[in-house]
Amino acid sequence: LVRSAVTGVGSYLPEEIVTNADLAKIVDTSDEWIVARTGIRQRRRARPDQPTSDLAVEAAKKALLEAGRTAAEVDLIIVATTTPDLTFPAVASIVQRKLGCPVGIAFDVQAVCSGFVYALSVADGFVSRGQARCALVIGAEEMTRLMDWTDRTTCVLFGDGAGAVVVEPVEGQGTKADRGVLGFALRCDGNKTDLLYVDGGPASTGTVGHLRMAGNQVFRHAVVNIAEGIGAAAAAAGVTIAEIDWFVPHQANQRIISGVGERLGLDENKVISTVALHANTSAASIPLAWDAAIRDGRIKRGDLVMLEAMGGGLTWGACAVRM
Ligand code: ACO
Repeated sequence: LVRSAVTGVGSYLPEEIVTNADLAKIVDTSDEWIVARTGIRQRRRARPDQPTSDLAVEAAKKALLEAGRTAAEVDLIIVATTTPDLTFPAVASIVQRKLGCPVGIAFDVQAVCSGFVYALSVADGFVSRGQARCALVIGAEEMTRLMDWTDRTTCVLFGDGAGAVVVEPVEGQGTKADRGVLGFALRCDGNKTDLLYVDGGPASTGTVGHLRMAGNQVFRHAVVNIAEGIGAAAAAAGVTIAEIDWFVPHQANQRIISGVGERLGLDENKVISTVALHANTSAASIPLAWDAAIRDGRIKRGDLVMLEAMGGGLTWGACAVRM
């Protein structure tokens, strides 16, 4: 086995900004309520003619540029998404065509908000076994397509966007100080599917459906599960929580992010938060936040980063990466 590493990170947000005040015009809510309960101030929304694959392609181009790679070198594409352009083919297949990548491996991973962590673990497996040398792992979502715009308890929480990373084999000792993906923890508790789901699909209603959520219960599970996942991923990576330079959480709600921080006794200056600007972009939120913190100079080469997420399934997970 060889070590895999994340060599480039990129992201893309659609242009249109939807503020809390905009939503207060269509449902009975207020900027004050949304900010106090979630920390969200705005979200982005894709154009009607802009499918998930378009967001994915823009994020992927930036990640490839950062890694110093070209589309011609990509031999594996994994897209984590719960909002594909079409039921099939996979968004990854469409991305391969739009980027002009050669024939290789391409498929989607569906683990909702935990999708990016799941997808990164799959790519790590391919690269570690020598079955891929230049992998694109993309989280791309248009959650606004799944909203019931009459349901104020959900429609204020979500947004659209995409983030991508390039994963490649690296030389080195393979110690925790060396660049690379160090360890994972992945979980699913299928007994809790009814807490967070979309009420449609090809094999049930034949419709796309809308997102439904028991917000309070999801909140409780999120804090406990994410904290557990971080501990397990740190153990798998052979690092302590104190050694971690940056926490890059899935951006669902500032109160979940802060709750996890309090539970684990984290320094809040080490926790990246973009939820105010991006809202919950499901599988896209981790690479979007990761990229923002690289661009603003916080996360640097050599830093130890912990990615963490929970979402529908219920799925959750975490991953330790040395930059
Ligand atoms: N504007 C105004 N009032 C609202 C809104 C809104 N947008 N939404 C709900 N309310 C009202 C409710 O109707 C309720 O009114 P009532 O007391 O008259 O019945 C009141 O506010 C309180 O509702 P709660 O659901 O108890 O509010 P809570 O403090 O739990 O906040 C929230 C709701 C923000 C959804 C919270 O439960 C939460 O963040 N849960 C986590 C869910 C999440 O982020 N999921 C994302 C997917 S999973 C993941 O990514 C981790």
